[in-house]
Amino acid sequence: MFSRQVTDQITLRLALPFYAEPLFRLTDENRGYLRRWLPWLDAVTEVDQTRRFLVAQLDRFAKGDALCVLIFWEHELIGVAGFHTIDATNQIGTIGYWLAEAFTGRGIMTHVVQSLIDVGQQYYWLQRFEIRCAVDNHASRAIPERLGFKLEGVLQRAEKIYGRWHDMAVYALLRSPPR
Ligand SMILES: CC(C)(COP(=O)(O)OP(=O)(O)OC[C@H]1O[C@@H](n2cnc3c(N)ncnc32)[C@H](O)[C@@H]1OP(=O)(O)O)[C@@H](O)C(=O)NCCC(=O)NCCS
Repeated sequence: MFSRQVTDQITLRLALPFYAEPLFRLTDENRGYLRRWLPWLDAVTEVDQTRRFLVAQLDRFAKGDALCVLIFWEHELIGVAGFHTIDATNQIGTIGYWLAEAFTGRGIMTHVVQSLIDVGQQYYWLQRFEIRCAVDNHASRAIPERLGFKLEGVLQRAEKIYGRWHDMAVYALLRSPPR
């Protein structure tokens, strides 16, 4: 999958090293906003770190272990989403995402995650989709809730974000396994 049209305005493209500079710029511009919930911001201070991330993601994509896509709004890069992990043996995909602050509140990520579920079913034969969110991250939790995921439980102190522990809500959506 190199490109996928989600709506008239939203397109997903495979995250290639070619996009290192605009992706680093977007990350840097949204650093303060994203730092509240994403633990890796302090480890990304130069474009080469973004490039290395993209090279690693491409390698994992080639092996079928992950799928990282960039989100475009009418040709403007606005965020990242994908499967952090693809467990082909058990047909499970774990979904992650972030968006530039200026593009939140329009339902964009809900559309993107629905599209990832379709991709996961169609191309990877996934039957279980998982999303983990810090319990206080209400904007993130609203996405699986809106898409019909079931809250399976809360993992205590499951993620440390800049020195503070967070409990994680685990959501799952089951789809019929392919025959
Ligand atoms: C979590 C995050 C991706 C949510 O992005 P988003 O695009 O605002 O999420 P949604 O697609 O669910 O949009 C929901 C909002 O759009 C509104 N909306 C407008 N049209 C909509 C539509 N057609 N469908 C759904 N929602 C719509 C909703 O009312 C809601 O607004 P509200 O937040 O004011 O209640 C974003 O807040 C983010 O990047 N946060 C920081 C990083 C992060 O937390 N990542 C997840 C870690 S687990």
